[in-house]
Amino acid sequence: TVIGVLASGRGSNLQAIVDAIESGRLDAKIGAVISDNPKANVLTRMADTDIPTVCIDRRQFSSRQEFEAAVAEELNIRHVELVVLAGFMRILTPYFIERFRGKIMNIHPALLPAFPGENAQQQALEYGVKVSGCTVHFIDEGMDTGPIILQEAVPVLEDDTVDTLSERILHTEHILYPRALALYCEGRLQVEGRRVRIE
Ligand code: GRF
Repeated sequence: TVIGVLASGRGSNLQAIVDAIESGRLDAKIGAVISDNPKANVLTRMADTDIPTVCIDRRQFSSRQEFEAAVAEELNIRHVELVVLAGFMRILTPYFIERFRGKIMNIHPALLPAFPGENAQQQALEYGVKVSGCTVHFIDEGMDTGPIILQEAVPVLEDDTVDTLSERILHTEHILYPRALALYCEGRLQVEGRRVRIE
């Protein structure tokens, strides 16, 4: 399966995916890494690999749809079959989602449907939950509302800060995302309405 990764920042989840491919845990090929942010660490991180990186700067486009059309075009040129959002900080419009219907995955640092949107770890701390975690899900038109593929729980400790909780969750993300991708690439995910069955 040819994967296209969209990322805006640090790129640690992308790194975990690259590592999973290299170690043979994930049978996939990264066709392109696309960033909307020219300064993204994820671009320099890939610089000494043979993975193609493309920067599509949102500021160079006059509308969201033109930006998304450029991203979609790039993904098509590179024969991408599955779009993987890994810290991509832009909300995709229905236009893009329709073009890759059922073929866009995301990872979110909370146990959805709790704490969708930005700053999920901070939301969890402020709410006072004792357990949080991460969720891999397909993208639909809503904000972090698509069918859930895998989830993993992480404890929230008494003296946690946003940083310590984020780090604990991130460690789990790095295990969960490659695992979800492997299930997809092995053809083991069946979506039935809201529910994703793992075969
Ligand atoms: C992760 O916490 C992920 O759950 C969220 O954005 C962050 C990306 O981190 N969607 P990285 O760029 O993969 O290091």
